[in-house]
Amino acid sequence: MSKKPIILAIESSCDETAAAIISENNNNQPIILSNVISSQEEVHRKFGGVVPELAARSHLDKIDWIVEKAIKESGINLNEIDAVASTAGPGLVVCLSVGLSFGKAFANSLNKPFIAVNHLEGHAHSPRLNSNLGYPYLLLLISGGHSQYLSVKDLNKYKRIGTTIDDALGEAFDKTAKLLGVEFPGGPQIEILAKKGNSNRFDLPKPIINRGGCNLSFAGLKTAILKISKQINNNQDKYDIAASFQKTIEEIMYKKTIAAFNEFEKINKLEKKIFVIAGGVAANKNLRKMFKKLCEERNFESIFPPIELCGDNAAMIGLVGLEKYKLKLFDELDFPAKPRWQLDEEANFLKGAGVKL
Ligand code: KG4
Ligand code: ZN
Repeated sequence: MSKKPIILAIESSCDETAAAIISENNNNQPIILSNVISSQEEVHRKFGGVVPELAARSHLDKIDWIVEKAIKESGINLNEIDAVASTAGPGLVVCLSVGLSFGKAFANSLNKPFIAVNHLEGHAHSPRLNSNLGYPYLLLLISGGHSQYLSVKDLNKYKRIGTTIDDALGEAFDKTAKLLGVEFPGGPQIEILAKKGNSNRFDLPKPIINRGGCNLSFAGLKTAILKISKQINNNQDKYDIAASFQKTIEEIMYKKTIAAFNEFEKINKLEKKIFVIAGGVAANKNLRKMFKKLCEERNFESIFPPIELCGDNAAMIGLVGLEKYKLKLFDELDFPAKPRWQLDEEANFLKGAGVKL
């Protein structure tokens, strides 16, 4: 039997420094031999958000021992690595540059191919790490920087059918958390606070809910919460705002996902329809519950990555690296860091005031 490829993957696009070793089993299913993630929460907490300069410095401090740990934990030898894959974008350019340069240098020193990976492509395929996912599928990518519905035809074949025209969904969670005085990173805390609150207390806006197809908008929500947050007197007020926000998001995503299903069905005539939800916000349990129910109603199969692989990690980068390795899609060592890198490169820019939907 021929040797299975072994990929070293590196991720440093934002505030997680991560490395992983990925291979596949005899049924050609990916296996994670190691997956090491070091978060910079402590570094950024007192600033209430990611500070690019500090993030880059922290990546520089950690990258070599994170990679060393991933190799050690996988039990492989250096000479068994077949290729090195690094996230090349989108993300903070100073952060991307750390993992990208390290990956290129490592590949060069081993005399093995280098593979540049799109971070969003990592999220898009992450459910393959725990399921037998085929093509095509409808993808909802919801993270701190992106919120998009995409029809996924194959590796590197994406058609965007909806996107946010302002804030990303994770950003809306984080901004709401900040207004409630929750420490960074606040998104996951909203879910916890919401459990103790009355979700009917505040009537929050649902921007572009009845127009714009499955395009999304969350900026108006932040403005509404900013107003309400000025009258917070006690913890119960905070819980009620969190619960009302969580419920409003569920209602927006329910309605917009139906629009996305209709759009997807128009371009794909399929017996079996699959809806994949990925990215950091896909860890939200109430959203997962709502999407599962909606999929049952509409005859879609719902697929999520495991909770621990929803956020940024290198295993998902290694998975894309593995697929590209098998297709011999290698990159040159002068491949640039790409702070903006869309999955659907033909999709129009749809952001800012005056955008036509
Ligand atoms: O994919 P990710 O780790 O990083 C980016 O590529 O952006 O996503 C991070 C985002 C943050 O905005 C974070 O607040 C949000 O995902 N997030 C959540 C939850 N866990 C993470 N939002 C809502 N509920 C959660 N449980
Ligand atoms: Zn991400």
